[in-house]
Amino acid sequence: MYKNRFTALIAALLLLGGCSCPEYRPGAVWTDTDGAVINAHGGGILYDGGRYYWFGEHKVEGTAGNLAQVGVHCYSSTNLYDWQDEGIVLPVEPEGSGSPIEKGCILERPKVIRNARTGQYVMWFHLEPKGAGYTGAMSGVAVSDRPTGPYRFLKAVRPNAGHYPVNALPLHAGPSRAEGMRFDGGSLPEHPDSLNIVGRDLAGGQMARDMTLFVDDDGRAYHIYSSEENSTLHIAELTDDYLSHSGRYARFFVGRFMEAPAIVKHDGRYWMMMSGCTGWAPNAARSAVADSIWGPWTECGNPCSGPLAETTYDSQSTFLFTVAGTDRCIYMGDRWNPENAADGRYVWLPVRFDGERFRVEWHDRWRWEE
Ligand code: DGJ
Repeated sequence: MYKNRFTALIAALLLLGGCSCPEYRPGAVWTDTDGAVINAHGGGILYDGGRYYWFGEHKVEGTAGNLAQVGVHCYSSTNLYDWQDEGIVLPVEPEGSGSPIEKGCILERPKVIRNARTGQYVMWFHLEPKGAGYTGAMSGVAVSDRPTGPYRFLKAVRPNAGHYPVNALPLHAGPSRAEGMRFDGGSLPEHPDSLNIVGRDLAGGQMARDMTLFVDDDGRAYHIYSSEENSTLHIAELTDDYLSHSGRYARFFVGRFMEAPAIVKHDGRYWMMMSGCTGWAPNAARSAVADSIWGPWTECGNPCSGPLAETTYDSQSTFLFTVAGTDRCIYMGDRWNPENAADGRYVWLPVRFDGERFRVEWHDRWRWEE
């Protein structure tokens, strides 16, 4: 990134002189190598075989774009600036098909990981079956033999049915006071534990909305999602094939209402970034650090600074990742536009680790120095 005015001046001169060095312009329209606007919202990155793959929600224009009308879009790149269109890799099923991923469902925040044992590419996403708003709180899974698909939809699940979290409280085995109750994704009338939402959802599986995936150095994969009516994050281990939940999961940030979880491992520690719950409107980000994925997690405040810190620079986290072969980390966020969903923008910014916290700083335009 531009470290000082001199470097910025050199960059400006190079631009004036006709250098077409790629750079990031957070919030600007971002086009692919064919000149079409990149359409991959709520996305994530997979690095595989020397290429980066960006998967995200394809959104159509207008408010109709807040529902899944097309499917999951993929782009690929070798330099993380120039993205080639790889097409729709998981299309929605036709209307009336009755499929959980039927056109008009809500299919959000797709993430793809590669399973080294099976060689399969595994996609998980937040799935709300058509016509029920956000009450389904399910997760969908799809697989492919190639990163660029096509992905085959396998199932829609509520995670960890019949399993208590590893950090369950005695009260979770007791009666639930939330039986039959549904909330709107915002605050609850009581603390999630006094309602015992885990107990309410024990038999059918835990709620899972905003989500990400993470593969640790030992090959274990984790599904991290907003649960318990959005009040609490769950970190859930996946099975060896990454296609199911293993039954081992833990609850964190109880009653803190975190959405949009993103995670990266840096210097042997686990760093997470999340948002609060304000629908499509941006809010102040939160961050946390842990020495083990199973916690304890320590919150370390808003990683943003400056005038737009309280709205995460008008964005919401979707992914954190390390550039291959470096220790550079990138924040990927969405600047949603629910009135014209296709015009949602991408906010990518450099992440700086700084002792016991990390920082995401605003730049109108930036690139890594070579
Ligand atoms: C916030 C979530 O982070 C988004 O993915 C989306 O589900 C919106 N809420 C819907 O209001």
